[in-house]
Amino acid sequence: MKLSDRVNAIEPSATFAIKAAAAALKSQGRDVVDLSAGEPDGAPPDGVVEAAVQSLQNAEHKYAPVAGVPELRQAIADSYREQHGLDYGPANVLVTFGGKQALHTLALTLWNPGDEVIVFSPYWVSYLPQLELAEATVVVVATDPEQGFQPDPARVAAAITPRTRGIVLNSPSNPTGAVVERSRLEAILDLAREHDLIVISDEIYAAITYDGAESTCVPTLSADAFARTIMVDAVSKTYAMTGWRVGWMVGPKDVIAAAGTLQGHSTSGVCRVNQAGAVAAVRADRSFFKPVLAALHARRDLCVEALSAVPGIDLGPVPQGAFYVFPRVDGLFGKTSPGGRLLDSAMSVADFLIHEGGVAVVPGEAFGEARCVRISYAIARDQLVSGLERIAAAVATLV
Ligand SMILES: Cc1ncc(COP(=O)(O)O)c(C=O)c1O
Repeated sequence: MKLSDRVNAIEPSATFAIKAAAAALKSQGRDVVDLSAGEPDGAPPDGVVEAAVQSLQNAEHKYAPVAGVPELRQAIADSYREQHGLDYGPANVLVTFGGKQALHTLALTLWNPGDEVIVFSPYWVSYLPQLELAEATVVVVATDPEQGFQPDPARVAAAITPRTRGIVLNSPSNPTGAVVERSRLEAILDLAREHDLIVISDEIYAAITYDGAESTCVPTLSADAFARTIMVDAVSKTYAMTGWRVGWMVGPKDVIAAAGTLQGHSTSGVCRVNQAGAVAAVRADRSFFKPVLAALHARRDLCVEALSAVPGIDLGPVPQGAFYVFPRVDGLFGKTSPGGRLLDSAMSVADFLIHEGGVAVVPGEAFGEARCVRISYAIARDQLVSGLERIAAAVATLV
């Protein structure tokens, strides 16, 4: 059957593809440690499951309001007020099927064909396809491993044209783990004000920072930042609820209302039972996150220590957020594996590691950086240790 040019132009999500490849190898009896998935291994906070069960027992089987149940919209608005002093109410919040749907809906709500939208590389895998589906023109501004993947405002200024309409920020970053310095965000928001750009701030890893690094909540930067930013978050990462598919966008009421109109013709909004669980998560005592963060921190340190000892792998500045490391592997290019694989790209390194090393990582090409691979440490410690040992052992077989 003939498919649309639109869908023919996009590739499958690389992270889901690697996860599926690892699962397929496992089902053939192969022993693979999967360090590809961006999925916390923990459990949601107390009260989440009970709230969802209660929702079912209350026979909440019907359509929910398209924009989200009032309790969840209120809980989300309250959380930003409590944590950041931001003046949001329920009308500033649209509940979506995960952060991913929020970002896709925003792309369709905001951009016209040919509007230029700035995205930093390395970028999260779905930003480009989502913007392309909306027929926006993606303008990629590179960040460098040597600078810890910090965006350079001068490069942003150079990328702005009369057609530029928006900019996508993601700090802490997937895949790099970089936490963007506040002063750089301020400079970028100054440019946004000067050129009247809409800012989308994907803050899905905001709770996950280490070493005293602080994630900046972009709308707190100034009254102007508050007025021009739409923030995206979800229960997925912070509350270990990736499969619940509850996310949201928060921002100016007109954008939220327009995105809600669009949502009324696409998903009709999120299931009541999932939203009931999400209310409990968002209202949970945040002390639940302390041990989660401590465990992630320890695992990040494990990655840093193990990978720094592997010749040909270069971690660069230590990532201070999210749960990924994104080391350079171009030091391995030119080498050959026992199975006859010539390593000449991150893709070939990932292919070698999964098939000959028994460990799944995501090649950097998926994020627009062909010198690196992404390793997720949101996995049980023993698995992580085993995966890191496998990487070191596999690299030692290269000639
Ligand atoms: C940077 C970033 N944004 C958005 C998402 C989407 O999250 P969700 O699972 O809530 O759709 C992810 C998930 O991997 C992500 O890493």
